[in-house]
Amino acid sequence: MSLASRIHGHFHPPDDAGAHDHGHAHAAVDDQRGDASPFWVRHYDRVARIVAFGRLDRLHEGALALGEFKPGLALLDVGCGTGDLILRAESQVDGRGTFVGLDVERGMIDQAKRKALDHQVDVTFGEASIDAIPYPDETFDIVTSSLMFHHLAPEQQRDGLAEIHRVLTPGGRLVVVDINTAKRSVISRLPGHRTGDTTDPLRAKVAGQLRDAGFETVSAGSHLVESLSYAMGTKP
Ligand SMILES: C[S@@+](CC[C@H](N)C(=O)[O-])C[C@H]1O[C@@H](n2cnc3c(N)ncnc32)[C@H](O)[C@@H]1O
Repeated sequence: MSLASRIHGHFHPPDDAGAHDHGHAHAAVDDQRGDASPFWVRHYDRVARIVAFGRLDRLHEGALALGEFKPGLALLDVGCGTGDLILRAESQVDGRGTFVGLDVERGMIDQAKRKALDHQVDVTFGEASIDAIPYPDETFDIVTSSLMFHHLAPEQQRDGLAEIHRVLTPGGRLVVVDINTAKRSVISRLPGHRTGDTTDPLRAKVAGQLRDAGFETVSAGSHLVESLSYAMGTKP
C-alpha cells in the first residue's frame, strides 16, 4: 500500500455524513484550482504563531498531557486546523497508535495532509464537522479540541459533545482547551473573542456542558499556557 493511500485510506465517511475526503487526488486538484481558502486559513500557521507568541507547541503538549496520551491509543483531534497537535502526538509515540484529525475547513485539511506527506507519517486528516464525526461508536480513546470550541454556536457545541461522547470508548477522555476570555490577553482581545465574560467560560460553562453530555469526573482549570483554560471529562 502506498504511503498516500495509507494516509488517506483510513478515512471512510459512512453515507457521506457531512464529511468529504478527497484522497490523494485532492492535492493535485488544489494545485490546479489555486488555493481559494480564506486568508486566515491560508496563513493560519504564521498568524497563530504570532498571536500565540510561539506557545502553540506548549498548548498542544499540554492538551496531550491532560488526556494522558500514551503509545497505542487512538487519538482524534476535532477542529485540527493544519494538524500540528496530531503530528506532535504521532512523533511523541513514534507512530504507535491511531491518529485522526478532522476540520470543517478544507484549506486546513489540505495543509495538514501536505505536512503528513512531508513528514512521511501514518496519520489521517479529513474534512468533517464536530457534529457529524464520520466514525463508528467507541473508536477513540482520547478526543482533543484546541482553540475551537468558542467558534461554535451553542446547539453545535451540544451536538458536537454528543458526537464526541459517541465515538469515545468507555473510559475514554475528552480534553477541551480554549481561550479564557475573562482574562486580559492579546488573544482574548482579538475580534470575535471580546465576549465580555467576567468568569472563565471553561470553568463556568463548558464543564457543565460536558456533564450534560454524559461525561463524568469532569474538571476544569488553567492550562499551562497563560490565557487558556481546559475542561475535561471521561465517558463512563
Ligand atoms: C483557531 S483554529 C484552531 C486549530 C488547531 N486546533 C490549533 O490548535 O491550532 C479553529 C479550528 O476549528 C475549526 N472549526 C470551526 N468550526 C468547526 C466545526 N464545526 N467542526 C470542525 N472544525 C471546526 C476551524 O476550521 C479551525 O481550523
